[in-house]
Amino acid sequence: MTSGDSPNRGNTPVKAGILGWPVTHSRSPLIHEYWLKMHGIEGSYEKLPASVEGFEKVVRGLVDAGYAGANVTVPHKEAAFALADFADARATQLRAANLLVFKGDAIHAANTDGYGFLQSLGGGSDDRGYDKNWSTNPVAVLGAGGASRAIIGALVDAGVFELRISNRTLEKIDTLRFLCEGTPTNMLAVPWDDREAMLEGCGLLVNTTSLGMSGQPPLDISLDHLPDFAAVVDIVYAPLETPLLRAAALKGLRTVDGLGMLLHQAVPSFAAWFGVKPEVTLELRGLIVTDLEGKS
Ligand code: ATR
Repeated sequence: MTSGDSPNRGNTPVKAGILGWPVTHSRSPLIHEYWLKMHGIEGSYEKLPASVEGFEKVVRGLVDAGYAGANVTVPHKEAAFALADFADARATQLRAANLLVFKGDAIHAANTDGYGFLQSLGGGSDDRGYDKNWSTNPVAVLGAGGASRAIIGALVDAGVFELRISNRTLEKIDTLRFLCEGTPTNMLAVPWDDREAMLEGCGLLVNTTSLGMSGQPPLDISLDHLPDFAAVVDIVYAPLETPLLRAAALKGLRTVDGLGMLLHQAVPSFAAWFGVKPEVTLELRGLIVTDLEGKS
């Protein structure tokens, strides 16, 4: 996007923020404030707490107050999509949005989570420069919730030919099958008890469950079946090095933490509101790491 496409309202500082409940621990303000400063843009990005019941009212209030838009996090991603007048292909497919852009009275919805995930694999801020074996071998995914949905959509787009998905509640995997329809991707539903055996021959393992997050039980899985060339991704970023990533690193496997996805999904949002495509720099990553170390 060029600055000519920016929804900037004349010389008025552009306002945006993150809608969630709770939203206290969101790192998104740190990310966007860093870019605003870096690009010398007069604007703001704030935490916008909104309860489930109050969500629509808060969003309409932001439109009336001249906000350029907002990011959307748990538990509002589906409600944000439902509220929008227009939606991009990805949000429409997932029926969930993490980005709202207000154009006049119209609400546009987009979903940039899958983009953020793929960008984080490609290297980005903590470029580990690993090869692309992950896309030419089966990919294993743990979890079948909202985060998994966005990631599977992205992996299907990336041309993965076989997705092995394991979830505690096996039936939930069937709700993801539509993502593969009309594509060459074959999806296998794997019982939770078989999650270790499914790693055989996989080029990539992605944890999309909340297991391993601070305050949650660890993810109980042995990585013995993963080939040497595999990479392991954990979308959890608090802590940054989850027990899963530590185990993968000890085995000499390439690891990608969840911070890359968080940083990269923010790029299209900033571009849409502020008219500049920002960069995910090592300095930005360091800033968020320091904050996570201080508070998580
Ligand atoms: P998100 O939007 O972050 O993906 P979610 O939709 O609540 O959150 O999904 C959480 C995922 O973590 C699910 O796959 C869930 O498994 P179930 O579908 O069986 O609930 C998984 N998960 C959470 N706690 C778990 C646990 N103790 N053991 C195994 N899986 C767990």
